[in-house]
Amino acid sequence: MSSVTFPQDFLFGTATASYQIEGNCIHSQLWEDERKQPERFPDKSGNACHFWELYPQDIELFHSLGWKVFRMSMEWSRLEPEHGVHDEKALARYLDMLERVAGHGIRVSMTLDHWSRPLWFEKEGGFHKRENLRYFLDYINYIVPKVKDYVDSWIVLNEFTNDGMDRKNFGILKNLTVAHGYGYHAVKQHTHAPVSSTHALIAWAAENPQDSLDRLAAQMRDWSTNAYVLHALKTGEMVLPYMDGEYLPELKGSYDFWAINYYTRHYASARKGDMSGERYPHNRFRMIDRPFFLEEFYPDGLVEQLPRFQDKPIWICENGVCAEDDRFRIVYLAQHLMALREAMRRGCDVRGYLHWSAMDNWEWGSFKPRFGLVGVDFESQKRTVRPSALFYKEIIAHSGITEAMVEKWLRPLCDFKTYPIR
Ligand code: BGC
Repeated sequence: MSSVTFPQDFLFGTATASYQIEGNCIHSQLWEDERKQPERFPDKSGNACHFWELYPQDIELFHSLGWKVFRMSMEWSRLEPEHGVHDEKALARYLDMLERVAGHGIRVSMTLDHWSRPLWFEKEGGFHKRENLRYFLDYINYIVPKVKDYVDSWIVLNEFTNDGMDRKNFGILKNLTVAHGYGYHAVKQHTHAPVSSTHALIAWAAENPQDSLDRLAAQMRDWSTNAYVLHALKTGEMVLPYMDGEYLPELKGSYDFWAINYYTRHYASARKGDMSGERYPHNRFRMIDRPFFLEEFYPDGLVEQLPRFQDKPIWICENGVCAEDDRFRIVYLAQHLMALREAMRRGCDVRGYLHWSAMDNWEWGSFKPRFGLVGVDFESQKRTVRPSALFYKEIIAHSGITEAMVEKWLRPLCDFKTYPIR
């Protein structure tokens, strides 16, 4: 590994989502799902990181770790627990949270929808019905003016393109795309801050690269995820396999930057109904005691895929790894930042990097996957600053990874004899 330097104005930070950290989001559909579907949610979110109570000291800690940007979301279900009924106390608490973040000179990237929606909205059919979009737009028109002075950039929807993974979800994928388009314009009515939605960028690989059908399967999945969103946001056309195309003028150009979440690559197989391929056994790192999609590091995906997003600035809004052993996180972070720098050297206009995640959290049904730079003991709610957080702090202080840092942090991880790359 070699040293890398980022531009002085490049911004480093971390990302979170309200439902995963706050705890007790009792008016969310997810809260009910957790109770009704124990097999899908082996661990209940409960207090999660208890961020709703502990945020003052957490924000102090985040500041002490040198983070310059904090990506967070607000719970729509807290702010509007019943249709048309707004909880002023919840709003006051979010305002206090934002004031503390801003008071520490940390910029806020705000997500309006990170998968958790009010129970009343889901009972109406949620985003499955296009006419329900008006509820989301009402919420945007309520909340954005209230908090806009604290927010530097907006994410309307988190990873709505995940639904492009499965043909059964193409209907809701289109509805979410429409929600993004109208949501973009609704936010823009109230603020000049840049607006986008995060895209889960996946590097697709054919399970058997020699097999032309596997290669087509990889292209097909790339179409319904990556190419779909690129085309839709650039042109306003929603084009998906097996569906009639649809044009929505509001969609065209509805992004001020590309908000990219990147974790790893995935394989496609033409011999599976859902086209999902198997990861090669020799590429599997079992970093936790259960199968998890992050079993392979593939930083090259950033170099290969980011050049597709040329026309607007890029922000990496999530990138991270779950590991019991924090040394994996140190390596993952170093490799992905080096790959990101390489993508920038090749012309990608990347402005910032937000690591997922600030702290261990409720990973949509389980507390096992530990993504945090800061560790959380979910019993005692004690926070532990991991070595990777200290490594990241040095990266931020130096705007990159110096040779001395490679010596200090990475060389001790292996006792092979290695030489600096010139
Ligand atoms: C989501 C996060 C999640 C992370 C790790 C992302 O797709 O936005 O909420 O915790 O992946 O699985």
